[in-house]
Amino acid sequence: MPHQSGSLRVALLGCGVVGTQVARLLTEQADDLAARVGARLELVGIAVRDTTAEREGVDPALLTQDADELVTRADVVVEVMGGIEPARTLILRAIEHGASVVTANKALLAADGPTLYAAADAAGVDLYFEAAVAGAIPIVRPVRESLAGDRVQRVLGIVNGTTNYVLDKMATDGLDLDQAVKEAQALGYAEADPTADVEGYDAAAKAAILASLAFHTRVSIDDVHREGITGLTADDVAWAASTGRTLKLLAIAERNTADDGTEGIQVRVHPALVPSDHPLAGVRGAFNAVFVEAEAAGELMFYGRGAGGAPTASAVLGDVVSVARHRVLGGRGPVESSYADLPVLPADSARTRYQVRLEVRDQPGVLAQVAAVLAEHGVSIESVRQSAVPDDHVALLLITTHTASERALSGTVEAISGLDVVRAVVSVLRVEGA
Ligand code: NDP
Ligand code: HSE
Repeated sequence: MPHQSGSLRVALLGCGVVGTQVARLLTEQADDLAARVGARLELVGIAVRDTTAEREGVDPALLTQDADELVTRADVVVEVMGGIEPARTLILRAIEHGASVVTANKALLAADGPTLYAAADAAGVDLYFEAAVAGAIPIVRPVRESLAGDRVQRVLGIVNGTTNYVLDKMATDGLDLDQAVKEAQALGYAEADPTADVEGYDAAAKAAILASLAFHTRVSIDDVHREGITGLTADDVAWAASTGRTLKLLAIAERNTADDGTEGIQVRVHPALVPSDHPLAGVRGAFNAVFVEAEAAGELMFYGRGAGGAPTASAVLGDVVSVARHRVLGGRGPVESSYADLPVLPADSARTRYQVRLEVRDQPGVLAQVAAVLAEHGVSIESVRQSAVPDDHVALLLITTHTASERALSGTVEAISGLDVVRAVVSVLRVEGA
């Protein structure tokens, strides 16, 4: 129900990269938003740490350090402060006071989403989070609502703008990782602590959220196998290009069957090589792209800006309009659906293709020894490329495998690295997208 004034009171928690843009859009588009909602959206306060800092286009009179009090006098609370606490306590307090909540906080949802969903359910209010996954791209709503009648098999994509920007800059401008991260921070793409981006935590949180929605199963960030991009070198990036592939940080959530026949899901985030003519290879800068494969729908692709203040604010405002409409017209949006309760399978039963780069002695019989180890572990070779290193009696071997399990591959690599003829296992990278 609208407040006595005929408007809905909106409280904003956080006024940084995203919050500033949310405040701007709420003000600049006030008339259009009122027409779409059926009531005016009145920004009643903005909680920040520092009320003295300059914030472009934001009325300083709205700023407060008292977030606890602010959430008790709002119909809709928008949480864009990030982090686990005090965000969780404030969201729960807002819900307890009957407010609907919109959040962009994937870290919190992936760590403790069920507590928030249960609280919203008990209070009969909405908890919306489109901006938590892939910035401006509508992906939460399509998976949660549009595909609710289908059976999702797999979700695969680039869901972190910072790492995509970094890998792109390393490949195209020759920047090193630290330089590229600094640029991503300056552009407002990175998390408050960019370790969350480069070590894959942010993508893992998003993968957990998407997996929960797609498979109607509770998946937390702890269920996600996670590898970031800090182990990648400029050499890996250059080699990828020389073999017609591009390195991307991918998030993959899929139905799978474990070796013992258990049917479940696997959720993983790691760098992977994709063919340079694959649509994911063409995702540049901080853009994101997500493929969803569903039984009846087939393959769907969602693409757009995955990070940044204005794109993320667009997703936040979409949610604000939805929850505000519910308050005006009655009713609620979808609640948590976890009825399927599928087991999350161990990461080492995941199956994919691999590219293994080795430095070996340049002498007869070496290739045969390496091939024998692969055969012993049941890993089939798709192709081998050998190139000599001048004057060093060393050859570089680039082996691409057919599909194999993580377990078989890691056993193979361990055995190969123990061969006398192998000087170094330079890199082991997964290959996705054919
Ligand atoms: P920022 O660091 O730019 O902004 C955070 C804001 O929250 C600041 O205004 C800060 O206040 C305020 N804040 C932080 N802690 C507190 C606290 N304890 N009490 C009161 N205010 C606090 O973050 P972003 O805007 O980049 O991100 C916000 C959220 O949106 C995060 O959850 C992030 O993961 C998510 N997100 C971000 C995207 C992006 O591209 N940046 C994209 C999608 C989601 P002060 O200004 O005084 O320091
Ligand atoms: N740090 C995140 C990213 C923001 O780079 O994708 C968007 O969620």
